[in-house]
Amino acid sequence: MHSNIVGRHAESKKLQSNILQISQEAKAMKAKYGDVIDATVGMLHHEKGNVFKYHVVEELLHKLSDAEIYHYAPVRGTKAFSEGAFNWVFGKHSDLFKEKFHYSVIPTTGGSGAISNTFFNFNDFGQKVLLPNHYWTPYENFAFEAGVDLKTFKMYDENNHFNLADFKEKARELAKEQERLCVLLNDPCNNPTGLCMTEEDWKEVVATLNEISRTNIPVILIQDIAYIDYQEKDTEVSRDAFLSLLDLDPDILAVVIFSGSKTFSLYGFRIGAQIGLSKSQDIIDHFIRVGDYSVRGRFSSVSQPGMNIIGKIFTDKEYLAKFQDELVEARKLLKERGSLFVSEAGKQGLKMLPYLGGFFISIETANKNIFQDLVNEHVFVIPMEGLIRIAVSSLNREEIPRLVSILKKHV
Ligand SMILES: Cc1ncc(COP(=O)(O)O)c(C=O)c1O
Repeated sequence: MHSNIVGRHAESKKLQSNILQISQEAKAMKAKYGDVIDATVGMLHHEKGNVFKYHVVEELLHKLSDAEIYHYAPVRGTKAFSEGAFNWVFGKHSDLFKEKFHYSVIPTTGGSGAISNTFFNFNDFGQKVLLPNHYWTPYENFAFEAGVDLKTFKMYDENNHFNLADFKEKARELAKEQERLCVLLNDPCNNPTGLCMTEEDWKEVVATLNEISRTNIPVILIQDIAYIDYQEKDTEVSRDAFLSLLDLDPDILAVVIFSGSKTFSLYGFRIGAQIGLSKSQDIIDHFIRVGDYSVRGRFSSVSQPGMNIIGKIFTDKEYLAKFQDELVEARKLLKERGSLFVSEAGKQGLKMLPYLGGFFISIETANKNIFQDLVNEHVFVIPMEGLIRIAVSSLNREEIPRLVSILKKHV
């Protein structure tokens, strides 16, 4: 074998996805023992352990025509999908956003494809994307694959609030160092912590980005909203949170990352979108130009059935109403688990990071051996830098009190 069979840039590539690997270990142990708690899976499950399927999604899937399943999807997506995704994301503020911004929606292979394309096109090779120190680890893979790196700021201050001071310091520093600033914020319902930024946080973030943009430095804001529909507060609150973006300066590009996996439980279909917003038409023209190219150049087009199911839900009032009813059920399920976890943690004296919604709760720990200690007790979680991530999305309520007491013993 040639020692140089792999291109130089790919030599250090090795997928070390502890999330996928640990999930598999958990499944294997669960097949052997009845008491295993698997808190690793970032997919919403029913109490009985089956995945939460939206019936309207299922119904539509079986009604698609051959063309709607088998044909190639258009690179630019269907109008039903693209306009629908925009309207769903911005909700009652959609018209206002259409009036204030130029925009375009580029369908991608899940939120993952959207983030990956954005990293690739809006940085020079070797540059860094700024994000909080607690993050969904595949961002590292998207970055490496795009020839860029990550730089972190501290997510929390001493009161467990979003750390604006550190964000501002690191943003100014990085912008100065590389004459570009690309920021990634996964909000609302951060994975792994469940943090939701406040309106004040967003206002300050936007003010800092404007300040940097005014020094003639390109600024890109990536907002990953994968869990937007699962905030504990009303769904309208997540839409109101976008209002701060209206103050963005004209030269800034915001890319909002939509995921069909989380909103519709279409995890396996690989459908999502990059929603580009800017007050400058020129910037949106660039966004479209490089976005279209990368869709074709990296994965050709997206899942035709995935795009059609979502497009139909967004354009048919009856389907949309059905979906919204089921979403209420999904949110209730998650909220009940989250509330039970928080109240058990309170009762048993387990300190946790503030959980405000989404699929995950995080507990800080100094125990370097936490993963193995928990496995010995038949509990699987995802260990991350200084914390463990618990997927409430895949737990059932009955497991929670025992899980909390085992966690309390080891953190
Ligand atoms: C924070 C975050 N962003 C984006 C995604 C992307 O998901 P998908 O590519 O399935 O749309 C995920 C999936 O787990 C996630 O946790």
